[in-house]
Amino acid sequence: MSKATASEPALAQGASAPGPTISFTRRPHAALASAPSTELTTMAQVQGTMEQRQSDRPPMWDGDGPAARRLSAMAGGMMGSAILKVANDVRALLAQGRSVCNLTVGDFDSRQFPIPTLLREHIEAALRAGETNYPPGVGVPALREAIRSYSRDLLGLDYPLDGVLVASGARPVIYAAYRTLVDPGDRVVYSVPSWNNAYYCQLVGGRAVPVPCHAATAFQPTRSTLEPVLRGARLLVLNSPLNPTGTVLDPQALAGICDLVLEENARRAGRERPLYLLYDQVYWMLTFRDVRHATPVALRPEIAPYTVAVDAISKSFAATGLRVGWILGPTDLVRSMGDFIGHVGAWAPRPEQVATAALLAAREAIAEYHRHMKQELQSRLDALYRGIVAMRARGLPVDAIPPAGAMYLSARFALTGMRTPAGEVLRTNEDIRLYLLREAAFAAVPFQAFGVDEDTGWFRLSAGAVSLADIERVLPEVERVIKAVHAPAHQRA
Ligand SMILES: Cc1ncc(COP(=O)(O)O)c(C=O)c1O
Repeated sequence: MSKATASEPALAQGASAPGPTISFTRRPHAALASAPSTELTTMAQVQGTMEQRQSDRPPMWDGDGPAARRLSAMAGGMMGSAILKVANDVRALLAQGRSVCNLTVGDFDSRQFPIPTLLREHIEAALRAGETNYPPGVGVPALREAIRSYSRDLLGLDYPLDGVLVASGARPVIYAAYRTLVDPGDRVVYSVPSWNNAYYCQLVGGRAVPVPCHAATAFQPTRSTLEPVLRGARLLVLNSPLNPTGTVLDPQALAGICDLVLEENARRAGRERPLYLLYDQVYWMLTFRDVRHATPVALRPEIAPYTVAVDAISKSFAATGLRVGWILGPTDLVRSMGDFIGHVGAWAPRPEQVATAALLAAREAIAEYHRHMKQELQSRLDALYRGIVAMRARGLPVDAIPPAGAMYLSARFALTGMRTPAGEVLRTNEDIRLYLLREAAFAAVPFQAFGVDEDTGWFRLSAGAVSLADIERVLPEVERVIKAVHAPAHQRA
């Protein structure tokens, strides 16, 4: 059930990787990777462990003074991953021999969600054929061509070849977009809950402007939520389907937001630098039922000069470890981003590029692959959704939003203020998380990991690393432990 992920940490194995935070604590990675794993840890315990390990080590490994003196200001302020803490807790339970329904990883179990056979075969063939040298900095021509026609045919986006840039996954292209568009102090607007924008802002010195979004709009922004903050901003970041909520921007809402960007740029009339839109659509091939993915440029072609769209094979083909992503954008920006990617060497591996080109050309194979993959994902998300809605119908304080895309479900366990059978009052989402994990072996990530402040009981449930049987086993346990909590006496009628 627990697997290593590129986007988020390995759970069973304990490897460390970057990921979202709950609390913006500085660099706890090393301690978390090696913290004792026999009981659930609190952040304070983790930090204590880290300090103790540091004092145990021979001084030569630690340099000659406090980290703040040795690091750049950027690195000194870098935020560590709170999902690592969640991962550590899951690992602790597994080490005790408990089986955990692990809904925390934004990745796929490759036994349940393998990559397309054709992709694997072409990677093997490319390796055998000696495709092992540096790729061209912007991507191998066959892949750029394949991306171009795939995006044209399936998304209606007709970019020139120079508007396509390949790199090692979506992260480097997102970082390249931030790096090439945002100067220190520039305002970057994004909705929360959101995946990782706070980190990118910190890395480039941008001023983060998070816009809280709520369940009423499926946690997606609208024209009216963004209107008050876009004046003077440098970058607006949108993500649909959205990590962590599994919801999508509907075309009308997206069109309204595009109009806002166009109006703001018309207002600037060349006197100020433009507002850009970074559109992260890495989950666009994973939408369910009649939900359709919309893109800004197809809705409003005149927004193309200001829009950079991000895509990758990571999620759509369960290929998070293969590292192929790309950007579609105006040629001048793409050229700069390509230079940046070249300087940091974040090219996608050549055999994977060659194989992805072959994959994107095989439309029937892709359609067949997605039929199966989406059916598997949807059955898990639907089972979670139905289970939670049934509990709600039985009067429990839970809720969920119908899954529309990606691999996630937004679920609410509104247990704040309740008392557990052990007499402990659940005050925060973190308390609720630990209670569900400890008592029901149900592992979920609170929205705090995605920039949300309020303890409203919302969680991300990720369905890529669990089976349907795991879900069916855990739901009665969740119901049992929720029934076991009760409101403190003074709150009861
Ligand atoms: C919304 C979103 N964008 C980008 C990424 C990163 O994708 P990649 O693994 O291709 O770097 C993730 C990974 O979790 C994601 O959820």
